[in-house]
Amino acid sequence: MPETSRRTVLKAGAALAAVTAAPAPAAPVTAAGQMAVTLVGPTRVSLKINGEAHAQVLEPRVTLLDALRERIGLTGTKKGCDRGECGACTVLVDGRRIKSCLTLAVMWQGSEITTIEGLAHRDGLHPVQSAFIDNDGLQCGFCTPGQIMSAVACIEEGHTGSDEEIREWMSGNLCRCGCYPNIVASVRQAAKHG
Ligand code: FES
Ligand code: FES
Repeated sequence: MPETSRRTVLKAGAALAAVTAAPAPAAPVTAAGQMAVTLVGPTRVSLKINGEAHAQVLEPRVTLLDALRERIGLTGTKKGCDRGECGACTVLVDGRRIKSCLTLAVMWQGSEITTIEGLAHRDGLHPVQSAFIDNDGLQCGFCTPGQIMSAVACIEEGHTGSDEEIREWMSGNLCRCGCYPNIVASVRQAAKHG
């Protein structure tokens, strides 16, 4: 996954939040023609997560990860480093994988957010979840939700032509238990079975 510094993302998110959050006063324009934005306080947002709308009142600075875990109770998404380095917090937004600790919840109104809780369906586990079980792609399991979400996107993106390619495109997800060979085998199996 492309890496972006936390500071850059928070700055961009704060600016976007200030622009999109209502009610906001008309922003004055500086001599340079830039919008001078003012952050507002708690803002009502509606997030669509795993097909369900979740109305929340959030400070614009709340990350998507904290909104999921602390406000909405979806604790399957893990907080490892909280600084974009480990991938434990990976979720899908409109089908793209993102590190939810590096983005602000208010930025994603109107988007489809999928967490590990939304992968399985009534008729059983998602094929990537089954492949992780079949191949022992986990040990302690802490990184596993992020690994699985990332694997779903990796397969969708078509980055599974070889083990090397899988390793490269899964490299944003760290596993402190060192289960990498089994994780690669899991992704390979899931990709093979479509
Ligand atoms: Fe987000 Fe580590 S918790 S990358
Ligand atoms: Fe323990 Fe990956 S299974 S950190």
